[in-house]
Amino acid sequence: MKKKYLTGCGTWVVNRFPLTKLWNDHMAQYYAPKNFNFWYFFGSLALLVLVNQFITGILLTMNYKPDAGLAFDSVEYIMREVPWGWLVRYMHSTGASAFFIVIYLHMFRGLIYGSYKQPRELVWIFGMLLFVALMAEAFMGYLLPWGQMSYWGAQVIISLFSAIPIIGDDLSLWVRGDYVISDATLNRFFAFHVIAIPLILIMLVFMHIVALHEVGSNNPDGIDIKKSKDPWGHPIDGIPFHPYYTVKDIVGVSVFLFFFATVIFYMPEMGGYFLEDANFIPADPLATPEHISPVWYFTPFYAILRAIPDKFAGVIAMGGAIFVLFLLPWLDRSPVKSIRYRGGIYKKAILMFVISFVGLGYLGMQAPTASATIMARIFTAMYFGFFLLMPIYTRWEKTKPVPKQLTEQPSIEDRIPGWIETANEMVKEVPVEKEGKTVLQKRPDASGIAKVLIRTAKNLKSSLD
Ligand code: HEM
Repeated sequence: MKKKYLTGCGTWVVNRFPLTKLWNDHMAQYYAPKNFNFWYFFGSLALLVLVNQFITGILLTMNYKPDAGLAFDSVEYIMREVPWGWLVRYMHSTGASAFFIVIYLHMFRGLIYGSYKQPRELVWIFGMLLFVALMAEAFMGYLLPWGQMSYWGAQVIISLFSAIPIIGDDLSLWVRGDYVISDATLNRFFAFHVIAIPLILIMLVFMHIVALHEVGSNNPDGIDIKKSKDPWGHPIDGIPFHPYYTVKDIVGVSVFLFFFATVIFYMPEMGGYFLEDANFIPADPLATPEHISPVWYFTPFYAILRAIPDKFAGVIAMGGAIFVLFLLPWLDRSPVKSIRYRGGIYKKAILMFVISFVGLGYLGMQAPTASATIMARIFTAMYFGFFLLMPIYTRWEKTKPVPKQLTEQPSIEDRIPGWIETANEMVKEVPVEKEGKTVLQKRPDASGIAKVLIRTAKNLKSSLD
């Protein structure tokens, strides 16, 4: 009787709303390539972090006061007085950094497997718009605790607008709503952070996924799986997203939550990288902190800004570093997508790009010295060189022939015996005195560990070849 009633309700809904169709089109009958690897975890993790930010953000808003006189204290109140407030706040602040870790890895996946190339240009463009919206969201959110770094960070970044000729000063005044960062700025940043940008993010995520499902997912081989179909019209190299990838993603989510919880419970400030030390001091418009630097995820772009001697040229270079990413689908002229079938030049170029990005990120956190500025200029040249020379080196270099179907990868069962042998290689048996007897005990072996690490690095390199 109960079952019949439930089925009746289900039919009533389905006759009025395409629930089953949506589920089938995007989950149960969405065929994804069967060779998704580690790099394909980060899209669903980005969704997870987005939901975490929304839920914890709503809870924080219930006790936060967007008022220059009350904001700092309201955050302290959340941390000390609101039941579980500390957890909600740490989940939100750690979530912000986790978002950028996940998104940078998600974008890097696009880079190594050429996921931005035809026909996924729009997936990439929506992704880039998401990235820009995410940066705006994080920047405005950072002002809300009204600590010293919130205040002075915003002051430095907004004053950059004044470098624009003619309209610059008026523009920065318009953005701040005052001559300095003040209550007016806090109020408008609050409105953007809790309503305007989250709405934009939701809309863009929707368009990102719809665009992806229209053309289908890329894969580590960069092969179009729609080209070889079985008699039922399903791609031979594809598997339904649900249940195969929903289950795979649960594994990714579990591992992610393990690290996420470890940070939240044991190192929420992450040594000043996730929550900066100066932000535990209330904002003081009369006392500039000794060293102003943005949170780690902005530092590569901040380092580019500082590397250029002229302020306006620096702003252009910083904007250009983000804008050039939008152009990637048209800069890459290679006939193949995946790094697996590209030549050595691309691999070296991507290595240089990673070194420059990490290097700039590091330098952006340090106080500027003469040698640091020279390094930042070299890395800036490498960063832009990667993109601007791409039309040349991707067209020139020889690529490997791409197979018609996906290549066989060793299964997890194939790999497990190897793991056991590897674990044994990293320990050695040492005689130990125990209750008057000599027994053999396993202890870590430095030379064994070094051997395994070197072999793993070599395997990793050849897996990309
Ligand atoms: C809130 C931020 C984002 C969310 C929630 C999100 C979510 C997703 C999801 C769920 C997928 C499908 C699963 C996967 O392939 O991993 C995906 C694919 C993709 N995303 Fe994002 N994404 C975000 C930001 C970005 C950004 C910033 C970029 C790059 C600029 C980007 C580029 C791509 C590309 C190229 C694909 C297709 C990958 C392929 O088929 O190989 N995404 N995204």
